[in-house]
Amino acid sequence: MALFPKKTDPAQTGADLSRLPRHIAIIMDGNGRWARRRALPRTAGHAAGAETFRTIATYCRDIGLDYLTVYAFSSENWKRPEEEVGAIMGLLKKYLLEAISRMERDRVRMEFFGDLSPLTPELRQLCERTREISRRYQGCQVNVCLNYGGRDEILQAARAFARDCFEGKADPDRLSADQFGGYLYSKGVPDPDLVIRTSGELRLSNFLLWQCAYSEFYITDVLWPDFSKEELHRAIAAYQSRDRRFGGV
Ligand code: FPP
Repeated sequence: MALFPKKTDPAQTGADLSRLPRHIAIIMDGNGRWARRRALPRTAGHAAGAETFRTIATYCRDIGLDYLTVYAFSSENWKRPEEEVGAIMGLLKKYLLEAISRMERDRVRMEFFGDLSPLTPELRQLCERTREISRRYQGCQVNVCLNYGGRDEILQAARAFARDCFEGKADPDRLSADQFGGYLYSKGVPDPDLVIRTSGELRLSNFLLWQCAYSEFYITDVLWPDFSKEELHRAIAAYQSRDRRFGGV
């Protein structure tokens, strides 16, 4: 019997799941437009987007991806209407509560990139608990960028490094890119090989600025709530067709 139903057969897109990128990062964009096209409130788009996230994260674990990073809430997203921010936080809470109860079975590890301090104490505790349980497992690691901004990440790393220099624990003349990476939220996580952005925008939007230096990009017009396993296969196939030279020839 075929391992995948015909519609999701990765081979149809040219994707070879036996040589996956190690780390895929996704800018999940287009929830608002998805809702508007259906005359629904924007919050309904985020609810649909959260379902898509669940499907894609589970699928990434199933196919054996090592790392998935998603942009769930940027440090600029606080500018959105209070109701929308509340709805996104509510979805995160719901997701984390479920993830905690199923982690032992699902074996999806979770980490959070961003400044969690402005979150409610309840959400912060949930993130901490999720992190703690995740440390006990091996397997796919899902990094959720939450109150995340690439420039903020680099600035907080620079501050931490400066403090270490001041305390004599680090030497500015010996700082390497690898060492600096150890001060970022993504410490210990390899850089994304493939960055996917949905909804057709051609921007990085302050996402993983340091880590994307040599990432391959895949932009699709598909809105995030409509993103599917087939679309993921297409992205992987596109990635596998690229010639990565990392500045060489
Ligand atoms: C971008 O679409 C999406 C967001 C800013 C929020 C993403 C949040 C989720 C998918 C739900 C919660 C996440 C998890 C991990 C459970 P947009 O609102 O900017 O869309 P638009 O550009 O069409 O307006």
